[in-house]
Amino acid sequence: MKNILLLTLLGLFLLSATILSANAEIAGNEENIAREEEYDEETYGPEDPVIWTRPVRSVVFYHKIHTMDAELDCDSCHDELFEMEAGAAEENEDFTMETLYEGGYCGACHDGETAFASNTRCTVCHIGVRGHTRLTGNPPGKNEPEGDHH
Ligand code: HEC
Ligand code: HEC
Ligand code: HEC
Repeated sequence: MKNILLLTLLGLFLLSATILSANAEIAGNEENIAREEEYDEETYGPEDPVIWTRPVRSVVFYHKIHTMDAELDCDSCHDELFEMEAGAAEENEDFTMETLYEGGYCGACHDGETAFASNTRCTVCHIGVRGHTRLTGNPPGKNEPEGDHH
């Protein structure tokens, strides 16, 4: 008799634990969906990545990571570090690692303090030729002017 009571209690416990975790999962999913829908270009800047191919193919920049996720204001980059025009920086001779290491462009923050340092994690910024093809459908060799941001 005592055993049956214990088993029933155990059963109830397991049942409620299952329901609770299922609820938590649903809530989690809803939160994720809500978060994705929230991306608003007015608030966070363009959704499409900016991709540079000069001097090297290819370096990628996402507004979302910086504005929505890292909570930076537009002012922290525009217009002192970057113009609001995809492809503008790559017109400059000094858009190089050396300038980044000296605190220019991305290096203003990617210095190992505000954000990970520019002399680490190369492949997070450098997506290479394959990454470029994947994001733009523009294969290497067809080195078209960057019209593919949109
Ligand atoms: C961490 C730096 C950073 C922040 C913060 C940032 N941007 Fe940008 N933005 C860039 C870079 C880099 C480019 C590309 C510039 C280039 O290629 O020379 C760019 C380009 C743009 C462009 C031009 C896109 C195109 O396709 O021509 C717009 C519009 C823009 N940003 C809007 C915003 C707005 C609005 C905010 C604030 C919500 C913002 N940006 C915040 C770095 C930033
Ligand atoms: C105004 C400051 C600022 C500038 C300028 C800036 N970033 Fe960032 N970036 C951040 C912060 C803050 C984070 C999030 C913290 C971290 O990853 O260290 C971040 C994260 C990133 C990440 C995500 C890394 C990951 O873990 O997935 C990439 C990629 C990146 N930045 C690339 C760039 C590139 C490329 C440029 C220049 C075109 C740039 N950033 C300019 C502040 C900046
Ligand atoms: C925070 C982002 C970021 C990181 C991290 C990064 N780079 Fe770069 N890199 C750039 C940008 C932006 C350019 C200029 C745009 C282009 O060439 O497409 C560039 C250009 C270059 C260039 C061509 C210009 C030059 O300086 O000679 C080389 C080579 C290069 N990077 C190598 C590296 C290596 C190696 C690492 C890792 C030790 C690295 N990068 C890490 C953003 C980054």
